[in-house]
Amino acid sequence: MKVDVLLGLQWGDEGKGKIVDVLTPRYDVVARFQGGPNAGHTLEFDGKKYILRSIPSGIFQGGKINIIGNGVVLDPLLFREEAESLAKAGHDLTDRLFISKKAHLILPTHRLLDTAYEAAKGTGKIGTTGKGIGPAYTDKVSRNGVRVGDILHGFETKYKAAKARHETILKSLNYPCDISRQEAEWLEALEYLKRFTLIDSEYTVNACLKEGKSILAEGAQGTMLDIDFGSYPFVTSSNTVCAGCCTGLGISPRNIGEVYGIFKAYCTRVGSGPFPTELTDETGETMCDIGHEFGSVTGRKRRTGWIDLVALKYAVMINGVSRLIMMKSDVLDGFETIKACVAYVVDGKETDAFPYEADDSIEPVYVELPGWQTNMSEMRSEDEFPEEFNAYLTFLEEELGVPVTIVSVGPDREQTIIRYTEEE
Ligand code: GDP
Ligand code: IMO
Ligand code: MG
Repeated sequence: MKVDVLLGLQWGDEGKGKIVDVLTPRYDVVARFQGGPNAGHTLEFDGKKYILRSIPSGIFQGGKINIIGNGVVLDPLLFREEAESLAKAGHDLTDRLFISKKAHLILPTHRLLDTAYEAAKGTGKIGTTGKGIGPAYTDKVSRNGVRVGDILHGFETKYKAAKARHETILKSLNYPCDISRQEAEWLEALEYLKRFTLIDSEYTVNACLKEGKSILAEGAQGTMLDIDFGSYPFVTSSNTVCAGCCTGLGISPRNIGEVYGIFKAYCTRVGSGPFPTELTDETGETMCDIGHEFGSVTGRKRRTGWIDLVALKYAVMINGVSRLIMMKSDVLDGFETIKACVAYVVDGKETDAFPYEADDSIEPVYVELPGWQTNMSEMRSEDEFPEEFNAYLTFLEEELGVPVTIVSVGPDREQTIIRYTEEE
């Protein structure tokens, strides 16, 4: 058995949560491999809506095993909030959610540092989610982190040392640092974490593979937010790309199976940073209104724009995408014309490569395709697709060189159309 990976190809919020939930019945195990509560993965079914931050999206169908891998950074306070609200809704996870001992903890002072660093950057700020993600990964890489497994071994000493270091930095940034209230709650939440089985997830995952169990790895954020390949420095602090699945779960690249690359029929971005196809006009507003483009974690308005095939081709290449999934097709239902960016003009020269220094001077080159002007949200089979929509799909498949195997036409689990290769 191999591990199939599902990851975002744009700047996040592509609809990963919805599709992981749809695909869960095909798998025995669902595992998150990176990111933390900066993620907001939305699932809708049976008239209910759930937003997951740290917990994998495979928890709702068929009592499957769910794993929070070593590549994740975990805030016990937000985790408890999430797990308790799910338990209240009838989804108690204590027996089927396992947490890697090697996942790093987000401390209360990491959150303060996140805010302090952003304030210090002024107009150059990243526009982070403020969840302490960057500082927690910084401590991991600088070998100063506190891990989930430390709850069981020598926590006090490691925690105190990290906190003292953070306080010194916060003081140097003139940032007020009274965390007594949050700290008490955080420490209580740490106790709550002990209800869950803390595991050496690399052994668990590899044992599952040996036993013939199928695994779906769930990415967070998107390729263009990857720490190495995204629009640096306007990125998150982890490897959101396929390689992150190997380091974030402890599996060999030889054990990667299908790579599902998920994208919106248009494009969005939340936070600062380059966005070559951004629309700041009425068309962009319309996309935002129809697509309800507001961050599921922060509530921030998402920036919107046309699909960017330069960035998508780059993402397909980096991840070795074998199957594409197109989301939010219904949002474009009313558009007379659809535009797709096929190249950029950078310094007067046309290119189809994502530039090292992506800035506002990039001019997108568009092709125009006729819109389908049909309500797709009730469609349940590709036989119902309008001709113009099929033409859009074929165009994307030819440009990207990978088949689009799933099309989503609404937020609900049922509003998902599985296409040819998926049924083989
Ligand atoms: P994720 O972070 O990749 O899981 O995506 P988010 O949940 O942050 O954002 C996707 C948003 O689009 C959520 O509000 C979903 O409910 C919604 N959504 C997902 N698929 C579709 C779709 O096909 N059509 C529409 N209109 N909304 C969708
Ligand atoms: P999901 O998993 C969209 C963005 C933030 C900011 C940058 C860095 O729901 O797709 P961070 O808090 O990670 O240090 O912020 O990354 N960002 C996301 N944008 N979806 C997400 O997650 C994101 N997680 C982080 O807005 O620009
Ligand atoms: Mg999201």
